[in-house]
Amino acid sequence: MNLFEETQLGNLTLKNKMAMSAMTRSRADHNGIVGDLTAQYYTQRVSAGLIFTEAIRISEQATGSPVTPGIYATNQIEAWKKVTKSVHDHGGVIMAQLWHTGRVGHSIDRDGKLPLAPSALPIRGMQHFTSQGLKDYETPQEITIDEIRQTIKDYGQAARNAIAAGFDGVELHAANGYLPSQFLAESANQRTDEYGGTIPKKARFVLEVMQELITAVGSDKVGIKISPFHPYGDMILDNPAGTYTYLIEQLNELNFAYVELMKRSPHFPSPAHYPADDEIELFGSMIRQTVIANAGYEKTSAEAELEKGIARLISFGTLFLANPDLPQRFKKDAPLKQPDRETMFGGGEQGYIDYPFLKE
Ligand SMILES: Cc1cc2nc3c(=O)[nH]c(=O)nc-3n(C[C@H](O)[C@H](O)[C@H](O)COP(=O)(O)O)c2cc1C
Repeated sequence: MNLFEETQLGNLTLKNKMAMSAMTRSRADHNGIVGDLTAQYYTQRVSAGLIFTEAIRISEQATGSPVTPGIYATNQIEAWKKVTKSVHDHGGVIMAQLWHTGRVGHSIDRDGKLPLAPSALPIRGMQHFTSQGLKDYETPQEITIDEIRQTIKDYGQAARNAIAAGFDGVELHAANGYLPSQFLAESANQRTDEYGGTIPKKARFVLEVMQELITAVGSDKVGIKISPFHPYGDMILDNPAGTYTYLIEQLNELNFAYVELMKRSPHFPSPAHYPADDEIELFGSMIRQTVIANAGYEKTSAEAELEKGIARLISFGTLFLANPDLPQRFKKDAPLKQPDRETMFGGGEQGYIDYPFLKE
């Protein structure tokens, strides 16, 4: 059970059990097109067994934040082809994370249109990073049934576009308070139609999107990221364990490759009524697909997690951001760089492609 052992994920052979988790870096242009720096950034990290891209907008409507990439326009897809080619030419494996931000957006960066969300409930206790600085969240517009149907189709089309762009698969971003997770949480979903009210109705959107992705690109190319007890984005569920247990039972009925299971972070304590259980032990053991464990791991804790036999891969976010050769550093027990928070979102080369490699 070693982090550096080869493993299989669906039809893919991964050179090790270390994935790089999805990280928004806000370095696309204003049309959501990524450039050469993005190709370089991901290519630098090909020693990961599997790379997840930053979250990518599935449609114009899915937009939440400025200078984040898209995968719905021809020129966006063409730009991603350069990234996937470079990663593949250097022996890497890369999946596209598909993103609809729901209420985590602002009309400033949406051509004046309010964000769409399950219900007209704004995010409390946070502000949004917009092209005009930090702003309070607006009250989103309740998404209609027709818009829900269109959004599900948009996910399918984005997945097909991702495969056309050369990606090895797609990941549904159903974590961190974005649209799919909003449907699951009472703090964002007070609907009384077939997409709200009971746990099965709240879970319906995520399950329909997953089915659409599987139909669009095939079981072995699809996965999902969930963060059941992470309250980021004002995600408060009445019954988080019950809701996610139901979701997982239903996901178990579908054929797809993996679930990336993100644990809560000490920086975002969950509400008092949430269970204290470790998410990998509680939910991971229920999951039929491959489990990728995420959040807060370093070498020793990652190996200990694999030893437990629930997760088959571990994904690392911030450590991969700051250490392009993270597997090499882990192997040698070399010092790790810490990420620079100032350059995480937006900007150019600095804090993006200039993190050093170990000297041979
Ligand atoms: C700069 C930054 C951007 C992130 N953007 C995304 C994202 O686009 N999609 C996503 O699923 N998670 C995103 N995350 C969360 C990471 O993928 C990961 O789940 C989190 O950092 C915990 O893992 P870690 O402790 O190894 O960093 C982001 C994290 C950071 C630091």
